[in-house]
Amino acid sequence: MSDLHDLCKFPQRPISEEYIANLNHYLRNGIPATYTVEEAYNYINGIEDVEPLTTTTPLHLICTHVPLDLSEDEQNIVNQFVDILFEYGAGWSFTDVNNETPGCILIRRGLKQLPLYQKIVDAGVRAELVLRKVTEFDMEVIEDTDGVKHEEFGELEYNNSNNNGSSNNIDSSTSDCVCEKNDVKNEEPIIKVEQQKGGDILADSIKEEFETNGNEDEKAVDDVYGKPSIEVDDDINAPSQNQVSYLDTKLEYTEDALVTKDRRDGVMMAWESDIMQLGADALFSGVDNEKREEDSGKVQDSEVTVLNIGFGMGIIDRMIQSKNPTKHYICEAHPDVLNKMKKDGWFDKANVVVLSGRWQDELDKLLSLGNTFFDGIYYDTFSEHYLDMLELFDYVVGLLKPNGVFSFFNGLGADREVIYEVYKKLVSIDLENYGLQCEFQEFPVPKDLFMNNEDKSIWDDVKRSYWSCPTYYHPVAKFMDF
Ligand SMILES: C[S@@+](CC[C@H](N)C(=O)[O-])C[C@H]1O[C@@H](n2cnc3c(N)ncnc32)[C@H](O)[C@@H]1O
Repeated sequence: MSDLHDLCKFPQRPISEEYIANLNHYLRNGIPATYTVEEAYNYINGIEDVEPLTTTTPLHLICTHVPLDLSEDEQNIVNQFVDILFEYGAGWSFTDVNNETPGCILIRRGLKQLPLYQKIVDAGVRAELVLRKVTEFDMEVIEDTDGVKHEEFGELEYNNSNNNGSSNNIDSSTSDCVCEKNDVKNEEPIIKVEQQKGGDILADSIKEEFETNGNEDEKAVDDVYGKPSIEVDDDINAPSQNQVSYLDTKLEYTEDALVTKDRRDGVMMAWESDIMQLGADALFSGVDNEKREEDSGKVQDSEVTVLNIGFGMGIIDRMIQSKNPTKHYICEAHPDVLNKMKKDGWFDKANVVVLSGRWQDELDKLLSLGNTFFDGIYYDTFSEHYLDMLELFDYVVGLLKPNGVFSFFNGLGADREVIYEVYKKLVSIDLENYGLQCEFQEFPVPKDLFMNNEDKSIWDDVKRSYWSCPTYYHPVAKFMDF
């Protein structure tokens, strides 16, 4: 444990300006803001060839030890303290021995309301935006832990220990930490990278943090700390990650799910019905229903045309049908799903137009025709990535009527609450760049929704869970009023 780590445990109250002075002193003297308890332990114990499996950063310690009874002045100091750490490159998504990011610790402690939590979410958004640019322009990332001179921290630590009279011994929490770390080594990975029904949605900043912390550019994420505690899900050719491989994979409809036949990836699950209802309602929310009734659907202006991308189990499409749209477009790419749609008569419905193929191709054709515009567009696919969704926004703005509504299944980062919040902000920023304002309605996700009637977890028959958040953020995006 270094003095920086000690400082982050707020040993003395009140938390005063002195903390800021000390923090600046350590950081200006070269201690990285990402310096982990594990690295300090290894250095002090002369362990050189073992890469730590976990990363307990100063930010983790802050989130673990921030007092519950902060005064307003103390609160301001803590905020400044964290701002400085972020300025010096503190990471928001490293995971500690409990597989928790700093944000996860605050959530567990019931401290989401602290400005500190919001600062972590904002740091996540910034990291994603910066990394997107870095990737776009193929820029090189300078690694801040390269060339770290631990001896200097040792000296600093020693000097400071002498100054404040404490000993230079490692405290017991460090050794606990390292023990637990070894336990983790033998365990199976605990959590999967967040995804939106397949598709490695976030990953970039997390991967980057794993990579930069590992000191070697070329190392794969898995190599950096052995198995990372946030597992990067599947290989890039897995059906859940890769559209070509997904479209080539046999699917199976079970009683309450659509899964990939061999790997049991959940493509769609019946528990999402309530969420689909929100989506179906949103698609019609820009429609003037009174006028529609008056006109009995005969007048051109009161025609309602909606588009759903991704049929899956047809849950949302049945809900859309019950609202009697004038035209109901469905875009679906998978041959097994298209066969099921044929069998169930979707191709024969008078008001349904099935676009058989990937939306990337089908919407391009529709846009070129220039004669179809939608009151509502819903997006819920599988094995796609956040960047695919960004591409979709080009079509959304081209195909949506001025009063139209765009919504989507919001599972972005939903297998870790803090990342879900990061993506909520990120997607709003991205939609704003297209002139769309996105509002999120919040719905509690009842725990029992995840159990079937035999009290078994609904995830038992599928390979992995893609949901672990207590609240669903239902997105409704409309063109901004200028
Ligand atoms: C999660 S399911 C949709 C579930 C649907 N919302 C419901 O209520 O049942 C995803 C669907 O999107 C389809 N899909 C995946 N990628 C696609 C793409 N690029 N274009 C069109 N459909 C796609 C999948 O084959 C699958 O049927």
